[in-house]
Amino acid sequence: MLRTRLCELLGIEVPIIQAGMGPWSPVELAAAASNAGALGSLGGAMIPAEHLRTQIERLHSLTDRPFAVNFTSTGIMEGSLEVALEAHPPVISLALGDAGDMVGRAHDAGSLFIQQVHTVSQAQRAADNGVDVIIAQGTEAGGFGQWVSTMTLVPQVVDAVSPIPVVAAGGIGDGRGLAAALVLGAQGVNMGTRFLASLEATIADEWKQALISAQSEDAVKVEVWQDIFPEAATEGFGTVPRALRTPFIQEWQDKREDAKREAEHLQEQVGAAV
Ligand SMILES: Cc1cc2nc3c(=O)[nH]c(=O)nc-3n(C[C@H](O)[C@H](O)[C@H](O)COP(=O)(O)O)c2cc1C
Repeated sequence: MLRTRLCELLGIEVPIIQAGMGPWSPVELAAAASNAGALGSLGGAMIPAEHLRTQIERLHSLTDRPFAVNFTSTGIMEGSLEVALEAHPPVISLALGDAGDMVGRAHDAGSLFIQQVHTVSQAQRAADNGVDVIIAQGTEAGGFGQWVSTMTLVPQVVDAVSPIPVVAAGGIGDGRGLAAALVLGAQGVNMGTRFLASLEATIADEWKQALISAQSEDAVKVEVWQDIFPEAATEGFGTVPRALRTPFIQEWQDKREDAKREAEHLQEQVGAAV
C-alpha cells in the first residue's frame, strides 16, 4: 500500500484527506473515509456547538481511526471550537484564514493542526504559527479558494515550508491526481468534490448528479460573492467560491453592480439555500 510521511504523522493507511466541507461533510462521510484508511473530516464550520458535540460523539462511536474536526476561520459558531478541543480529536484543521493561537490551543488539547492555504506567503505564516501539515489548495478547488493553480502552487509551498508535510488540494479526483501530487513533492491529497459525489455523502442526489455530469468548464469562480458578502473580500484570506454555474450564479455574475445594491436580499437567498 502507498504510504508517505503524512501516513506516519496522522496514523492513517493511505495519504488521502477527505476534505472538511462544513454542513456537507457529515459524520457518515467522515466515518466512512476514516474506516477506509484515509483521514475523514467532520465539518465544523457553521455547525452550532451542541450539534457539533453530538456529531463528534457519534463519529467516535463509528470509527476508532484518526479523524479531523474542520473549521473555517470565518464560520466558527460560538462555543464550537471549545467543544471540539474538549473532545481531543486527533486533528483540528482550518481553512480560509490564519490560525493564530488556535494552533497552540489544538496542541494543548493533544491534537495535530492542519492549515489550508492558497499562496506561498500564507504557507510561510502557517509555518511560523507552528502547524503540523499544510494543505496547498490550488484555484481548481471546489468551495472557497484563490487564484494560483495546484500545479504551480504545490511545489512552491513544498520548497517554502520544508520539512513540514504539504498536502495538495484542488482538482484531484483519482489515483492519477494523487500520483501527480506526490511527484510535485506533496505527501498526500485533500479531496472535496470527489467525496461530495460519493454514496456516503448526505447531499441531495440532484447535486451529486450535477457534479457527475458536469464538464470542467461548467464550474466558475463566483466573484460576485464579494459583492453579495462585501466582508468576504477583507476577512481571512479573502477567498471566493468556485462552483457549478447555477442560474443564480449566472444571473448575478453578469450584474455585479445590481448585486451590490441587492446584497441584503441576496444574502437571505444564499442563507436559505445553505
Ligand atoms: C461544497 C464545499 C464546501 C467546502 N467547505 C470547506 C470547509 O468548510 N472547510 C475546508 O477546510 N474546506 C472546505 N472546502 C474545500 C476543501 O477543503 C478542498 O480544499 C477542496 O474541495 C479541494 O478541491 P476539490 O473540490 O477539487 O477536491 C469545501 C469544498 C467544497 C466543494
